[in-house]
Amino acid sequence: MQILDGKALSQKIEQKVKQGVALLKEETSRTPGLAVILVGQDPASAAYVNMKKKACDRVGFYSVSHEMPEDISQDAIENTISMMNKNPNIDGILVQLPLPPQIDTTKILELVDPAKDVDGFHPFNVGRLVTNLDGFVPCTPLGVMELLAEYNIDVKGKNCVIVGASNIVGKPMAALLLNAEATVEVCHIHTDDLKKHTLNADMIFVGVGVINLITEDMVKEDVVIVDIGVSRTAEGKLVGDVDFENVSKKSSYITPSPGGVGPMTIAMLLSNTLKAAQANTKEKS
Ligand code: GUN
Repeated sequence: MQILDGKALSQKIEQKVKQGVALLKEETSRTPGLAVILVGQDPASAAYVNMKKKACDRVGFYSVSHEMPEDISQDAIENTISMMNKNPNIDGILVQLPLPPQIDTTKILELVDPAKDVDGFHPFNVGRLVTNLDGFVPCTPLGVMELLAEYNIDVKGKNCVIVGASNIVGKPMAALLLNAEATVEVCHIHTDDLKKHTLNADMIFVGVGVINLITEDMVKEDVVIVDIGVSRTAEGKLVGDVDFENVSKKSSYITPSPGGVGPMTIAMLLSNTLKAAQANTKEKS
């Protein structure tokens, strides 16, 4: 069994982004800028935004976060995004999800300029991903693909089972794996007999936030496990969706959680923001 060490790879990527930022500053005097919108007081969302901000500082980005109250109006968020779309110092715009129930999330995501959509959530970029064209790809699934590539794990022709069908993780993960010529099954909350599917999988990608959802009896020998889930136990410990201790014994490769996919998500946000800044700079010159 080998651990897929997302923390180590994320540090390598961060160094590369840092060099890219230095080069861009040297050649064009431009600093990549990321703007983040955080609505409400959800502690997990606040923690993620804080980690993203610190990562921006480490690589030399300009970053600004707009913190808004839980009862904010649709118009107020839309006005802020319109301002960010026009601001030449902002290359990337990230709206931390989920948004409160009074907000129409689709309308918000559709308002973000696709050229600044570093989360890859705008339908324009979703469409480009599905058709295997260049664009912005959601950070978590993109980070998973980078992690597999780092360990030379080829997905071509493999039976890949994804558990969780969200727009942020499961669906873009499916598109990336299909583009890489894997056979892909997407399971979700209404899937009957999950074990029937996972037992047949060469690789399992799970990100639903259910502790111990994947147990050793549900996987075959030498499976590759990518655990995208993060939950807090009653004792306050962070854990993934996989019974790591027992499933790891049957795995060829496995990500820990935390310390696997999580750091890769942030590394990909940095990489997407640098890509946006480079493209913006080219456009202007
Ligand atoms: N909420 C959970 N994951 C994400 C993510 O990757 N990006 C944003 N913006 N919100 C999230």
